[in-house]
Amino acid sequence: MSPIDLSCYTKEVEIEKLMPGDVLAHDIFLEQGLLLAPAGIRLTENHILRLKKTRKRVVTLDFSKVYEKATKASRVLMLKAARGQPIEKKEVMEIVDPFIKEANREKNAARLLIQLQSHDEYTFQHTVNIGVISMYIAKWLGYQDKNVLDITLAGILHDIGKSKIPLAILNKADKLNRVEFEIMKKHTIEGYKILSNYDSNIRLAVLQHHEREDGSGYPLGIKGNEIHPYAKIIAVADVYHAMTSNRVYKNRVSPLQALDEMVKSLDQLEPEIIFTFVQKMLDFYTGCKVLLNNGKIGTIIYIDKNNISKPLIKVGDEEIVVDYKKTNGLGIDKILNV
Ligand SMILES: [Fe+2]
Repeated sequence: MSPIDLSCYTKEVEIEKLMPGDVLAHDIFLEQGLLLAPAGIRLTENHILRLKKTRKRVVTLDFSKVYEKATKASRVLMLKAARGQPIEKKEVMEIVDPFIKEANREKNAARLLIQLQSHDEYTFQHTVNIGVISMYIAKWLGYQDKNVLDITLAGILHDIGKSKIPLAILNKADKLNRVEFEIMKKHTIEGYKILSNYDSNIRLAVLQHHEREDGSGYPLGIKGNEIHPYAKIIAVADVYHAMTSNRVYKNRVSPLQALDEMVKSLDQLEPEIIFTFVQKMLDFYTGCKVLLNNGKIGTIIYIDKNNISKPLIKVGDEEIVVDYKKTNGLGIDKILNV
């Protein structure tokens, strides 16, 4: 398996918005050529004060360390849960905190979500990613900070019950058979049990994250308003992330294709959450450069949420509709500036 490519987790941040603990992606030199701060350093108050005195407006931060640390911490949580040790809220907060801080600083949050596509160690990165995606959805839906935090915690912990599922089933390369799937389904109930000292909203979100609007989900097969609103958010995050990640037994689909398929699955997921999520993601894609399969580069001008597979693209002076699904016609090969 190939290691996750963390090189893309960098981004430009205005110096005014820097916070102590941020990690620099590149060396920063003063105008005289003196090194102010080297790449990889964690910025202190002192560094930030000195940076503010320079003419620089933005610096590039390396977000991979935060992500790497969170992934390692989520692995530790799983191991503790497997051993029957308590999952302290303080430990989960340490994972969540940097992402909450980042979300408050980042206007263009969708960028981070698009970069969060894991290639390896699915379970551990998946838990972190679902926490982050759920956090943004909660913010976009207008939840208060306290609720956003609980939804993020629930997102990070949603699959903690998998620590009680035999590894032979958890890591099986092929699709699970009926008996194995019945065992796998129990991770929802196990998670609920493990989190016995947590807030009931968080516990219910973990218990119900595989329930579906039409009653086709598990463990109870409840539907619509019977499902906790937090669980509905995690369900959307979970489906999106599962579609856009490489799993052992399936290849990921492009983010646009995933959004398209989600809009078409309104009977299973809460429409208000889907539309809010999809619209925010599409707003981000508008203006992105794309490489077409004829070798030309274009810019996405407009994507209709009812027709996501056919964005309007400007190539030179021409405006054309392409279809990413087409294999023999004009289509998008790659989205470039994410
Ligand atoms: Fe799950």
